[in-house]
Amino acid sequence: MSPAGPAQLRAGAARIVAEVVAHGRSLDELLAAEPDEGSARGLKRSLCYGTLRWHFRLAAVLDALASRPPDQLHPQLRALIEVGLYQLLSGETAPHAAVSETVSAARALGFDKAAGFVNAVLRRFQREQADLLHAVDRDLALRTSHPRWFVDALRRDRGEAAGAVLEANNAHPPLWVRVNRMRGDPDAAVAALIAAGFGATRHPLAPDALHVEPPTDVRSLPGFVDGRLSIQDAAAQLAVELLAPAPGERILDACAAPGGKTCHVLERTAGAAAVTALDVSPARIERVRENLTRLGLEAELQMADVAATSGWWDGRPFDRVLLDVPCSATGVIRRHPDIKILRRAKDIPNLARRQAELLEAAWKLVRPGGRVLYTSCSVLSAENERVVAGFLGKTHGARDLTAELTTGWPARAADAPGYQVLPGETGMDGFYYACLGKSL
Ligand SMILES: C[S@@+](CC[C@H](N)C(=O)[O-])C[C@H]1O[C@@H](n2cnc3c(N)ncnc32)[C@H](O)[C@@H]1O
Repeated sequence: MSPAGPAQLRAGAARIVAEVVAHGRSLDELLAAEPDEGSARGLKRSLCYGTLRWHFRLAAVLDALASRPPDQLHPQLRALIEVGLYQLLSGETAPHAAVSETVSAARALGFDKAAGFVNAVLRRFQREQADLLHAVDRDLALRTSHPRWFVDALRRDRGEAAGAVLEANNAHPPLWVRVNRMRGDPDAAVAALIAAGFGATRHPLAPDALHVEPPTDVRSLPGFVDGRLSIQDAAAQLAVELLAPAPGERILDACAAPGGKTCHVLERTAGAAAVTALDVSPARIERVRENLTRLGLEAELQMADVAATSGWWDGRPFDRVLLDVPCSATGVIRRHPDIKILRRAKDIPNLARRQAELLEAAWKLVRPGGRVLYTSCSVLSAENERVVAGFLGKTHGARDLTAELTTGWPARAADAPGYQVLPGETGMDGFYYACLGKSL
């Protein structure tokens, strides 16, 4: 396929942004469905990521600039102007090219009559940028480009730390890899990466995690293709430290797909734990299969709802259950900026209810003396501390072991169960862990 020209690229980015904003589609899915456009792919992706990351701020600027009511603009035209504003703000494109190619993109999208309007809006932004941003940025939600409900919830839950979380959500995500202990050790992997011209550093708490710089196509990393490295954020890798699986144990990964933690558990136990990887989604369970195959690992795969035990469980209790619940994913916004747009306040109570049901179901599957590790990539206490506190309050024989298992980790307030990592802490994604022991 011939590479797309600069105007087509911007038009393509605007189509994708509009699908997310106006139709609630997922950015990952939209990008996966795009044809391979060679070297143009990177620029289009970065326009989509950047525009969506800054959507709330850009939309406020556009509302201040547009002479006609914003809801009268076609979603693709709005998205295109946001793509243009993003380019002017990011400084990655020369301003004259950003304006002229965005105006050409309006024509490429079929908005010939609006080309003059696009030109006028972008040029006025260039002239009045300082004043416009000064007015918009007085509002924390707009300055950091987040929905207001989320900023309010974060402030309520995380107090003074909220500002740093909002900033961290707008940073470009770092590349973390996991070293496969069955095929090498982390120091050797660091040496191989450095010899190949990358920066590589270990994480203070996650012993298999390496921070690799600069972020790159992972297939170019020495050791990725032959299964010595996998992509996984250090926060996700900490789950295995708390689960502490041992060879010979029966372990259930109750929400397993795409299988990052299933594979980590198997690598840590030298493939000698009996791991059941279960997920309710048929498409996603295939991802677990692919990941196991790539790494030469074996687990029993089950496509089922963990709570509907009659359909899949033989009644033999597990030594350990990992419950990595479906959640708002508000801890991984830096990797998935469309979450800011797709997630709504009303989703949170529904998620929390489901998470509580899944925790109750998982508890029944673990033997006395065993443990359930509840994890989520949310930063909201409604999905984390409050779910676990509610469970502990009504479950005889359940004890929160997290504090004693995290003694070497940065201290946390002792008034809530579990342990919350906030986005950006030692370079990690936001993640929550609660390790719950069942008394004998
Ligand atoms: C956060 S993701 C899991 C990520 C995975 N643990 C990893 O590390 O790669 C949550 C998963 O839970 C699955 N899920 C949601 N409800 C479920 C249920 N009732 N039973 C089993 N799996 C479920 C979803 O399909 C999704 O794949």
